[in-house]
Amino acid sequence: GKSGYDHFMLKEIHEQPRSLRQCLQGRVDELGGQVELDELAGVNPTSVQFVACGTSYHAALYGARLFQEAGIPAQAFLASEYVTAPPPVDDALVVGVTQSGETADTLSALRAAKRLGARTLGLTNVVGSTVARECDHVLYIRAGPEIGVAASKTFASQLVTLNLFSLAVTDDHDRESIGSLRDLPSTVQEILDDSVAAEVATAYLDADAYFFIGRGLNHPVALEGALKLKEITYRHAEGFAAGELKHGPLALVTDNTPVIAVATGDDEFARKTVGNVKEVEARDAPVIAVTDGQSDIERYADHVLRVPETHPRTAAVLASVQLQLFAYHTAADLGRSIDKPRNLAKSVTVE
Ligand code: M6R
Repeated sequence: GKSGYDHFMLKEIHEQPRSLRQCLQGRVDELGGQVELDELAGVNPTSVQFVACGTSYHAALYGARLFQEAGIPAQAFLASEYVTAPPPVDDALVVGVTQSGETADTLSALRAAKRLGARTLGLTNVVGSTVARECDHVLYIRAGPEIGVAASKTFASQLVTLNLFSLAVTDDHDRESIGSLRDLPSTVQEILDDSVAAEVATAYLDADAYFFIGRGLNHPVALEGALKLKEITYRHAEGFAAGELKHGPLALVTDNTPVIAVATGDDEFARKTVGNVKEVEARDAPVIAVTDGQSDIERYADHVLRVPETHPRTAAVLASVQLQLFAYHTAADLGRSIDKPRNLAKSVTVE
């Protein structure tokens, strides 16, 4: 059942501290300060191609960045596009990211890669799924069953598993990122306890459209925030790389199009996102900042969805929890069919 929650989606959002703990269980060696994934023994990719759809594609974009940061060439592809012109695989590891393990587009992309001689890895939630059976290697995200059509806890577990995956295969012992992953269950709990997303959502029910922006690891977070919102509210939402806003989408920005800006940390890239926020604020758009308070983005924001200060990798996970809550509460206020949005299915088995 829904354990007292109005919807499975809200229950699943609130399950994240537990599902993330489950995801990390036995995979992080605290003493040695390293990640251990027995499933990946002998997997040593020199480059990685991710294939995925929807929310899982956003996780794949994030995963590709983690590998790039570690110096391993990596790219994320929409599975349905990958098959139209599969890139040379050489000795790339092709990774299918799929919660259900049954998505037809993702299966086709993995099969195409296999035909070209690639080794494949399935990153999935479902034991015994088609992807788990067909891939050379499997890495489970261990989120537990997800009933809501909109992915929530499985997205967070995908992000965490991608962190473990990249740290394990690059034999990275960075204590700061390992520690921030270990602490995620409790930092997610802090957000669930303190979020003001419900009040912020209520303030914008009449918006013409919602725009989400972010840079770097927060770019896929912005894309996912927009997908979640459109999927369960039926309102128009788009996610952009923060730097792209001024190359076209800015023409859509008005005083009735809230811009949800994700900026964590205070590096040169966060500061550039603050610059983009100033541009929309000058056009009277309401600004909702998702921030850990390190940059001065709050000066230009009408509302703040706060996340604890942490490593950039985990900050992205925390920011996406705030955006899940924002989408959920907007949809709840609008009275939508949150667990079964119109026209959508939990697992898409046609191409
Ligand atoms: O099972 P998969 O992860 O392969 O599903 C891919 C997409 O259909 C899925 O992520 C979809 O976008 C979500 N329902 C969005 O919330």
